[in-house]
Amino acid sequence: MNQANIIAAAEEFVQRELGGDSSGHDYWHIYRVWQTAKKIGQEEGADLFVVELAALLHDIADEKLNESEAAGLAKVRGWLQEQHVAADALEHVMEIISTMSFKGGSKTGMETLEGAVVQDADRLDALGAVGIARTFAYSGAKGQLSHDPHLQPRTDMTAEEYRKGKSTAINHFYEKLLKLKNLMNTSYGKQMAEGRHAVMEAFLEQFYAEWEGEK
Ligand code: ADP
Ligand code: NI
Repeated sequence: MNQANIIAAAEEFVQRELGGDSSGHDYWHIYRVWQTAKKIGQEEGADLFVVELAALLHDIADEKLNESEAAGLAKVRGWLQEQHVAADALEHVMEIISTMSFKGGSKTGMETLEGAVVQDADRLDALGAVGIARTFAYSGAKGQLSHDPHLQPRTDMTAEEYRKGKSTAINHFYEKLLKLKNLMNTSYGKQMAEGRHAVMEAFLEQFYAEWEGEK
């Protein structure tokens, strides 16, 4: 298969695997990360075949969808082999996906430009208008309030409390989202993050004004 056919097959594979997921990693999250990664990859001169494949497959090995992370990674490797992806591209995609899905992996730097691009695209999907929508959707699903002025943002939450949603949607901006801009790897990714960061700041300002009946 040529590269375009492999990308098309990957899109179908992901749709099949993630179609029913409602944990915030539905197919449309993958679609957005794919589009954003392509854009950043073009601007940064990255290998687009590796970028697109890694973006499409980055959440397939998630442990929520597999018996273990290792089983998820083995599934992705098996699929890439079936498509006869060349060995160097295959290993590169696997390296990116395993670094991204590794717990706390977001804290270790990506090894290659292509990995940096895909991680930036994944982080960008938590920012801006889409990021705001995802945060309120996630909060509702976890039974969190949108906002409680008596509940301060917390920086000391355990991973367990964080996952269960022991805060509020508004607090999530301070606990995580407003910090992401400074974690971007690529210069084009950083530029996109700045635009999306500004959208969130404007949203928060309007939100507090409405809360007090000021606007
Ligand atoms: P990812 O690995 O793609 O960042 P997560 O599963 O951590 O995904 O989160 C999915 C979406 O839900 C993201 O947009 C994230 O910002 C949001 N989210 C994650 N945790 C919380 C939380 N405790 N409260 C509100 N939104 C959250
Ligand atoms: Ni993701």
